[in-house]
Amino acid sequence: MKLTNLIETDQTSQHHEAFLADVVNGLSTEQKSISAKYFYDDIGSELFQKISQHHDYYPTKTEFSILENISNLLPTIINDAEIDIIELGAGDGHKSELIINGFINAKRKVNFYPIDISEKAMQLLGDNLSINENLHIHGVVADYLHGLAHLKAISNNKKLVLFLGSNIGNFNKEQTDQFLTMLCNALNNDDYVLMGFDLKKDPAILNKAYNDDAGLTKAFNLNLLTRINRELGGDIDITQFMHYGFYNPYRSTMESYLISLAEQTITLKAANQTFHFKHLESIHLEYSHKFTPSGITKLAEHNGFEITQLFSDEKDYFIDALFHKIVHKDMYD
Ligand code: AVJ
Repeated sequence: MKLTNLIETDQTSQHHEAFLADVVNGLSTEQKSISAKYFYDDIGSELFQKISQHHDYYPTKTEFSILENISNLLPTIINDAEIDIIELGAGDGHKSELIINGFINAKRKVNFYPIDISEKAMQLLGDNLSINENLHIHGVVADYLHGLAHLKAISNNKKLVLFLGSNIGNFNKEQTDQFLTMLCNALNNDDYVLMGFDLKKDPAILNKAYNDDAGLTKAFNLNLLTRINRELGGDIDITQFMHYGFYNPYRSTMESYLISLAEQTITLKAANQTFHFKHLESIHLEYSHKFTPSGITKLAEHNGFEITQLFSDEKDYFIDALFHKIVHKDMYD
């Protein structure tokens, strides 16, 4: 696998600066918060990988079953001889492999461009994908934004962008619209996107999935504090925080917080600053939005796409939606 690291050295220091600034800002507001995007250092990516295999966390296996069902159908809808499959936040590649094999089995040439922020995750993915003479793999280590900007330069082949796992659920409404518009602009007419959406369901099932009995989700959340200690010179005692994740029906989101178990002051050497926590004060970490089929359709149409089809599992837990970019030509032009 060829690997391009778009995270240049000066960008690494930019990332560090942005992380520092976001953490300082996030811990300085009335309701403390840190963005979920910072979960995914190499350790966080590995922990999420373990969560996704745990029996309490249904989304990954549910989506896998959907992709198994549609992998041979997709090449009948997208019937080009050669296709570029681009995956944002590729993870371990097991889901990508299903989609890729569908096209390979239909005798198509596939160029696969996984884009992931973690170089370690990217190497794992390279190890997991089997070699085939009709498959070319070119990994790109980058965040979504730089990955998307990179899309246009790739080729003029028909593109299928994969954005799986309900990663979109971490965005708020504004970020979602912004992301979809950017994605749409990065594509040519008649390109496709396959996007994963976790659906609303019994809160008991949701709460279990984000409070797994092996404590992986807890470790995943607390790892953010460990990351702050390591990268920003923090002195946080992680045993003084608890993980709290619950479903909020008012917002249709899973929400996760870290709650301070004591009144305490922490220091960030990199910022030369201290931050005070009252007993039971919280840091908001994550929203994971839960969708409805009609909401997904609205989202697509509002941002320049048409829905080709919504693919669901037998329990209606999850949807993979095939978005199609169609520029309608005005007949009077
Ligand atoms: C990777 C964003 C899809 O929201 O379910 C898993 C992250 N957080 N357990 C999700 C996550 C807690 C996950 N996504």
